[in-house]
Amino acid sequence: MLQKINDLLNEVSSISVKNSEELELFRLKYLSKKGLLAELFEDFKNVPGLEKKDIGQKLNLLKQNALEKFNSLKSGFQNQEETIDGKDLTRPSFPYSIGSRHPISIVRNELIDIFTRIGFTVSEGPEIEDDDHVFTKLNFAPEHPARDMQDTFYISRLSSEDSSPEDILLRTHTSSVQVRVMQNQKPPIRTISPGRVFRNEAISARAHCIFHQVEGLYIDENVSFADLRQTLLFFAREMFGKDTKIRLRPSYFPFTEPSAEMDVSCKICGGKGCNVCKHTGWLEILGCGMVHPNVLEACNIDSKKYTGFAFGMGIERAAMLKYGVNDLRLYFENDLRFLDQFKTAF
Ligand code: DAH
Repeated sequence: MLQKINDLLNEVSSISVKNSEELELFRLKYLSKKGLLAELFEDFKNVPGLEKKDIGQKLNLLKQNALEKFNSLKSGFQNQEETIDGKDLTRPSFPYSIGSRHPISIVRNELIDIFTRIGFTVSEGPEIEDDDHVFTKLNFAPEHPARDMQDTFYISRLSSEDSSPEDILLRTHTSSVQVRVMQNQKPPIRTISPGRVFRNEAISARAHCIFHQVEGLYIDENVSFADLRQTLLFFAREMFGKDTKIRLRPSYFPFTEPSAEMDVSCKICGGKGCNVCKHTGWLEILGCGMVHPNVLEACNIDSKKYTGFAFGMGIERAAMLKYGVNDLRLYFENDLRFLDQFKTAF
């Protein structure tokens, strides 16, 4: 019997299989209930007491070797089956680098979210506009110096001296979308218009020739300045935090009367005064006012029946205040070291 076990030990160690059928044959021959090992253990019962120790050890060794062989053949086999064209399908994948939203998109989405919660819709207009929608219908008289407030990229000018309503230009503000909405919809109107705007400015940390704005417009019967203030206070608190305070300073825009600029309390110093707010405790965030009756009439809305408010703000500026960004150019350079910092924002 010892001889037989030794022979089998040699056999087991030298055996190899080519496929799963052969592996199964190996299992049946050695390890199954009716296999060689079971048979040997049965015979072992009749081995005389003196020989039991030696034979028992050998027999256990054979069992162990056969099992190990089976397992190693099986796992080698599985690996082979999970390999297609030399590619190991069980290999962990390369780490997948998740992108992040651009801070301008984050803030734009947040603005949309805040205003849609209080009933504003979202509307859009073209980036290439005519003078009529960007200036004339917004109460900028042809020769009015207010046109100088915004340095304009003209695409085509009909007369080289004066601007004409048909002049084609890149919109300098999203207020042009107000005009399109008022021309196409009847009050009540409650909408915001986020979008890209263009100005002929030298690029610096504080100015860029391309940037983004959100325009807001609310037209209905009996809309008052108090409605404007309360809407903007709601926005400021949602955007910059519950403790945010606002203040309105008188200002001038041709398309609103009265007009104002809104400041929010500086988040960085809590209103005490710091470098960011130039030690005033306040940061300018947007322009606003009651829609000028001339603008309503130019868009065929009865200014005796309806009143409304409008506001406009720069998204870059809002994002600067929210995230403490100090250079406008960072938004356009697509430097991953800058963009990666917004991964945890949504
Ligand atoms: N369009 C103005 C600008 O680009 C911003 C603005 C101010 C929009 C007052 C408004 C407003 O609707 O009422 O500077």
